[in-house]
Amino acid sequence: STASTGSTTAPAVPDFPLERSGRCPFDPPGEHRDWQRAPGLQQVRLWDGTRIWAVTRHEEVRAGLRDPRISADGLHPGLPSLAASRKMAPEEVVFPRMDDPQHAEQRRMLTGAFTVRQTEAMRPRIQEVVDDALEGMIAGGRPADLVTKFALPVPSRIIAVLLGVPYEDHDLFEDSSKLLLDLSADVERVQAAKQWLYTYLLDLVRRREREPGDDLLSRLVAERVTSGELTRRQAVYIARALLVAGHETTANMITLSTLTLLRHPEELARVRDTDDPRTVADAVEELLRYQTIAENAVVRVALEDITIGGQPVRAGEGLIFCLPVANRDGGLLDDPDSFSIDHQARGHVAFGYGIHQCLGQNLARAELQIALPTLLRRLPGLRLAVPFEEIEFHGKRVTFGAARLPVTW
Ligand code: HEM
Repeated sequence: STASTGSTTAPAVPDFPLERSGRCPFDPPGEHRDWQRAPGLQQVRLWDGTRIWAVTRHEEVRAGLRDPRISADGLHPGLPSLAASRKMAPEEVVFPRMDDPQHAEQRRMLTGAFTVRQTEAMRPRIQEVVDDALEGMIAGGRPADLVTKFALPVPSRIIAVLLGVPYEDHDLFEDSSKLLLDLSADVERVQAAKQWLYTYLLDLVRRREREPGDDLLSRLVAERVTSGELTRRQAVYIARALLVAGHETTANMITLSTLTLLRHPEELARVRDTDDPRTVADAVEELLRYQTIAENAVVRVALEDITIGGQPVRAGEGLIFCLPVANRDGGLLDDPDSFSIDHQARGHVAFGYGIHQCLGQNLARAELQIALPTLLRRLPGLRLAVPFEEIEFHGKRVTFGAARLPVTW
């Protein structure tokens, strides 16, 4: 867009992040589409005045995220922070904010717990957790808040079990995680949340050193901290990354997916009534693409002078990869703005791409593939308890979602 200043016309540098419009919360901000259509990359301005490049086209997102000249290094001064509270202290930096080979070294310590096979083995447990949450919600009566009764407890319980974090503490770790992902929260409040999570998880790591359990944190401690491959502090920050990334993302997906399906009754009926797990899997992939909740998650910095989409980017300049609009690129699929289980857009980037592609994606898929059909079958009369217009969506956060979803049945 351009802004007129007297007789000269200077291109304005838009602020980042912009919010999705409340009227159509599934669509990326309209400006992102203009950027996608314009040649080169769009320059955007962050909270502190820093200017970085927004990458919006699907092909360039994929190319950029597999380019070793583009770094996710949390120690690099050019790596963008989308809020003051997102700035990381050096000791906080673990594999999501490292480049290979250090990234791969740490990620490899965890991949065993997140393979397709491991996740398949967890399905009965996930089903139990889903059934349990659903019966609890029903017992609580109508109307109910789907977020607090179902969408949040399911992934929160699962990641707690997997990591070995006591679920009794869920209110505390959920509230702190929420603050860590909020781009408009007070720096002091985020610092306090970080401090609480650090102390909490450090205490847990120490406990697992003394009394190991059958969980990921115990194994990390026994295999990697004891051997000196990880410091205790690194183990704590890895646990924090998994705990935070592991529940809020999937919770937002369950919430928004329910909403999307309620607004597409024919697609909802297909998910509810099918015997074919492929239909459910296709629906989940399409929900991931259509909603692309990780909207402010993927920041990078150029290590060398490079060119992306015809745009020269200098060494040290920051980049933001706009996944929602990239997943609405006509180059990825036809009719990208409609929601259809038949779309089969296998190349979507809802989990990112390249070496940092989501570690928890198999787990997230399994949770969604179990939670959604179970909910729809158990409550065939499920509907919103308030007009759509009254639903409040998240503002500026790392991941998009809604704080509450009042439903009845
Ligand atoms: C990375 C999305 C669920 C753990 C990512 C990235 C995205 C993403 C876009 C890439 C970030 C980047 O490139 O900078 C999602 C979505 C989820 C989800 C949409 C839910 C539907 C989970 C779960 C876990 C998890 C359940 C559980 C542990 C991680 C971790 C990384 C990551 C550890 C960093 C991987 C690396 O740097 O190698 N996720 N995620 N995510 N995700 Fe997820």
